[in-house]
Amino acid sequence: MSQHYNVAGLDLTDADASSKIHRVLLAAMQQQLERSPLAPHCLLNDFSAASALSLNGIALEEGVGLPGRSPYRPYNASSEQTSGSSATSYREPYWDASHFGLDRVAVFHTATPAEQRAILYRANLALLQEAYAIEKAGMGYMSRMALLAETTQERMLYTLFAADETSHFVQLSPFVHEKPTLANNPFLQLLSEVLEGADKTVLLFVIQVVLEGWGLTHYRALAKDCRSVPLQLTLQGFLQDESRHHGTGVTLFNQAQMSPESHAGIVEILMQFLRMVQAGPQSVVEAIAHVKGHLSQEQKVQILAELDTETHSGTRLQTLRSLMRGDGAGEIVQELDDRGAFRPLPAHQCV
Ligand SMILES: [Fe+2]
Ligand SMILES: [Fe+2]
Repeated sequence: MSQHYNVAGLDLTDADASSKIHRVLLAAMQQQLERSPLAPHCLLNDFSAASALSLNGIALEEGVGLPGRSPYRPYNASSEQTSGSSATSYREPYWDASHFGLDRVAVFHTATPAEQRAILYRANLALLQEAYAIEKAGMGYMSRMALLAETTQERMLYTLFAADETSHFVQLSPFVHEKPTLANNPFLQLLSEVLEGADKTVLLFVIQVVLEGWGLTHYRALAKDCRSVPLQLTLQGFLQDESRHHGTGVTLFNQAQMSPESHAGIVEILMQFLRMVQAGPQSVVEAIAHVKGHLSQEQKVQILAELDTETHSGTRLQTLRSLMRGDGAGEIVQELDDRGAFRPLPAHQCV
């Protein structure tokens, strides 16, 4: 187990499937999820009767204990070529080409149907992996904030919020076929570093005011376009919790002491986050490259232009800017503005 990022815990390993902790956790989670109107029964509808629903190795129903699998199975070119039947058993993606803007991309149009499915699979996976990692990191974040609490009520709130994130993580896990890794993911690396080292004021603003607020908007958009009713209901079920997490962040940030160090820390971290947003939908480009092979600089620029990256990033940057509210936030926004952090980049500057 890595000790580098204990709070985010993204590289925490799963306990052995035969370990007793699974059974204890299953019992605890069943009780927790029974309070949710959506899970686990809605989730089960997305699986065939013979399929298993397993949450990191935890079977939700007695007698259902096969290894975890996603209802949206990965693309396997060789099996399709040999059997010819995989294409029909391959399920619809949760989000279709238009959600990613792929319907406007020439290289996607000229790809074979099998390549198109594979590109969509990678693009879907990137969204799911990001949400999975954020919920996992959320458990650690809320736990750290519980330890940093200055009143009993604050500690009570954060322990409840930690349970919210656990519940989100459990509900999302069955949809994520491949677990994310920290390697080659600058966003998750930065998130892990911030959770580990930043002071309470910085955490409140960056994580709870900005990123939780962003998560709320993001989940709402994902739910709206999602073609799987169980996943759509799952995401919708997170919205009230995320709204409460964000709102509490604003309230506590207004009471927090803003030292010059905290102010500088917030600006530096947000500059890095916003730079990633300015660079446009890179995960869509990566999904294409994963299937089509190496893309030249020119091809990447063309894809980003077809994805209308400037409009895509511009909308997101404005949403993020509008979330930066609370006492002292005005100066932070002004500084970020002066440094051009809310300016979307044209396609040729994104590669
Ligand atoms: Fe969450
Ligand atoms: Fe949250």
